[in-house]
Amino acid sequence: MSYLFQTYARWDVEPEIAEGSYVTDKKGKQYLDFTSGIGVCNLGHQPKVVKDAIENQLDQFWHVSNLFTMEKQEQAAKILATAAEMDAVFFANSGAEANEAAIKLARKATGKTKIITFKQSFHGRTFATMAATGQEKIKHGFGPMLEKFTYATFNDIDSLKDLLDDEVAAVMLEVIQGEGGVHVGTQDFLKAVETLCHEHQALLIMDEIQTGIGRTGKPFAFQHFGLSPDIVTSAKGLGSGLPIGAVIGKENLKPFFGPGSHGSTFGGNPISVAAAIATMGIVFDEVFLQEVEIKGEYLLSQLNKLFHGNRLIKEVRGKGLMIGIEFEQSIQPFLPELREEGILALPAGENVLRLLPPLTVSIHEIEQCIAGLKKVVNEITEPAI
Ligand SMILES: Cc1ncc(COP(=O)(O)O)c(C=O)c1O
Repeated sequence: MSYLFQTYARWDVEPEIAEGSYVTDKKGKQYLDFTSGIGVCNLGHQPKVVKDAIENQLDQFWHVSNLFTMEKQEQAAKILATAAEMDAVFFANSGAEANEAAIKLARKATGKTKIITFKQSFHGRTFATMAATGQEKIKHGFGPMLEKFTYATFNDIDSLKDLLDDEVAAVMLEVIQGEGGVHVGTQDFLKAVETLCHEHQALLIMDEIQTGIGRTGKPFAFQHFGLSPDIVTSAKGLGSGLPIGAVIGKENLKPFFGPGSHGSTFGGNPISVAAAIATMGIVFDEVFLQEVEIKGEYLLSQLNKLFHGNRLIKEVRGKGLMIGIEFEQSIQPFLPELREEGILALPAGENVLRLLPPLTVSIHEIEQCIAGLKKVVNEITEPAI
């Protein structure tokens, strides 16, 4: 019997050790990890630079509280804000907490209450972020929801126009909807969202929790599209596996998050911050990011080649190392089969298989994943008699 609430449908894989792109379980089976802890371990498992930074901090202090001045918090904030081309950072512990804080900041800064998000979006599991999430299954049984949230259709600017008025505090969106099926926002759509926000004095919040920290080949995915959001949220890959989230905002928002307005006991704790500084030191390097783009393009092109003309596959899409393979049917049978082949992959909705390899993945590992996918998809399409 388990004493855990059964909130997760767990796999029959119990890790013994994880290093680089691989997880080895207690039975000694090795898996190529194309989940990266759901977009968290962007530098692979146990990256040495991050491990050293954590160990150094463990020898200094673990926790003192946010009443103290902490040089490394300042340093992390500067690196993060500079990478996002912004000016101020609040550190939280998770993605949902970062989004929650972003929603609070937007309401306070604009004096308005309405928030528009998008159908199929995912923003977290707290009350505000659950209300912001455009998927009914996430909300089931937890009502009533927080008021004033409405949902436009992703990549359909007219549906946003229908909802947007001068009482809207913010429009919040993912540049690539991750949990909702790896849907990439188009250039025209994203630019038009920004223009409409300006016209209605609504803030633009980019939820970069899954797409940020180099995942798509830029520090943040909005930077592919020449956008200038008011608020960006980050988490997941920021701490390479240590819990940390962040709200990043423009200069004019600083007065609205003054002393006593918002806070968190653990937010920006020294260990996670040390991990974040070390992580960003690697990921925000231009050459590193270029390699992510090159490897992403290679993976996407190889998948397109592999599945060209396959009646089971509807589309392969994504950006950088965030890839979705949309099937014509449920992907549920494929995931356990892939694990049998020693490959870990993720679902994104019912029909999409999502690949989030570590950004440090090698071409050889990409080929290993393609070979595993080929075998499993072929076997299920044409079972041996
Ligand atoms: C886009 C996005 N926003 C928010 C979250 C919530 O983050 P967390 O699970 O750290 O609260 C996630 C998690 O999957 C996410 O992908």
